[in-house]
Amino acid sequence: MAEIRQADGFSDWLDQRLAVRKFMKVMMSEYWIPKNINFLWAMGVVLVVLFAILMVSGIFLLMYYKPDINLAFDSVNYTIMQEVEYGWLWRHMHGVSASAAFLIIYIHMFTGIYYGSYKKGREIIWITGMILFVAFSAEAFSGYMLPWGQMSYWAAQVITNLFGGIPVIGEALVIWIRGDFLVADATLTRFFMLHVVLLPLVIILVIALHFYALRVPHVNNQASEVFDFDKEAMKYLNGRKKESKVVPFWPVFLSKDFFVVGVFMLFFFFLVCYHYDFAMDPINFEPANNMKTPAHIYPEWYFLWSYEVLRGFFFDIGGIAAMDIGLMAFGFANVAFILLPFLDRNTQHVAPAHQRPAFFVWFWILLLDMIVLTVYGKLPPTGSNAWIGFFAAIIFLLLFMALPIITKIEAKSKGAQQ
Ligand code: HEM
Repeated sequence: MAEIRQADGFSDWLDQRLAVRKFMKVMMSEYWIPKNINFLWAMGVVLVVLFAILMVSGIFLLMYYKPDINLAFDSVNYTIMQEVEYGWLWRHMHGVSASAAFLIIYIHMFTGIYYGSYKKGREIIWITGMILFVAFSAEAFSGYMLPWGQMSYWAAQVITNLFGGIPVIGEALVIWIRGDFLVADATLTRFFMLHVVLLPLVIILVIALHFYALRVPHVNNQASEVFDFDKEAMKYLNGRKKESKVVPFWPVFLSKDFFVVGVFMLFFFFLVCYHYDFAMDPINFEPANNMKTPAHIYPEWYFLWSYEVLRGFFFDIGGIAAMDIGLMAFGFANVAFILLPFLDRNTQHVAPAHQRPAFFVWFWILLLDMIVLTVYGKLPPTGSNAWIGFFAAIIFLLLFMALPIITKIEAKSKGAQQ
């Protein structure tokens, strides 16, 4: 009797499992992914994984962190790093995933630019992506303040000061953001709130929008080919798998994503265990001191390119102060990428950059210029460094101004060919 009941229990369990699998299969097979995409299309999923690591490690750090200027530094550098078991591991994971997230975001963005994934019906994907970039930047900046080291304090001082450049309301705005006349305890507390509550909520919401926007035009592919997904899916389901241009999201595509995530995790834990300094500035291991300005103040590597655009203008031009020109250029640099779908005037043709000769050159100059800006953003802005920074900043601005012209000519010549 007992044996029969056991067997019954087992078959119930098996039935349930089969029902769940069937349900998953039907649900997931509604999503179809182009066959012709490479590992660069897994970067979005790598970003989701990194965001999950940031949330989990952040929750563990929160258990011991103290958002008070007299306690913050020790709570991180002494309590978490030395007293709490494995506290160092969670801190390293948090720091490395923040830095790695930007590396992957830049790869994800430049993949989108190269394959024209920002164009023709994909504008909302692009814009929600750029909102994610801005929200991630604010999240990283607010997080950098929390250990209350020298760089936390002075970077906050410099960045909040930038808002002072806004005409009329600038000065009042700086005090409002800081909650005090100087960067102080009130500043730390409000940035702590932004970092652990408001910004993560905004990021989750915008990720949901980003995904929702992806459902309508489907993801782009390596040939930027437009085809009927339903028709291709029917071919796949009717046994003509080789002929079909799509594969089901589950399990075929997701298994490839998991492979890329697995390889990335090897690289990630190598950094966490052996090169966590990649994500941390040595100057930030000194407690904040408002009486001692560090010799060079610079942000984390992922903000260096826009910081260099700001610093690049080091002399007055036509009676306009260098600082004001730098601020305007910095403001433009920060919105330039959002404007990309509108600056590209060749709206009809989506194609990878290697099939768009002028755009191909534009793309590689932009990438190289941003690398130069990043490298020089960390060096002291003196002598030839200052001039290289100046020319790289000018090239960056000119590239975005030239894009509508280049793409309009491209559109005309494509039109003439047809
Ligand atoms: C936390 C940040 C982000 C997450 C979690 C995320 C996630 C994803 C995922 C899962 C995909 C689909 C697969 C893929 O192409 O990778 C995707 C596509 C896309 N994302 Fe993001 N993304 C983020 C940030 C960004 C940013 C900063 C941009 C640039 C503005 C961007 C632009 C795009 C574009 C254009 C596509 C469509 C690609 C195509 O059609 O081929 N995303 N994103």
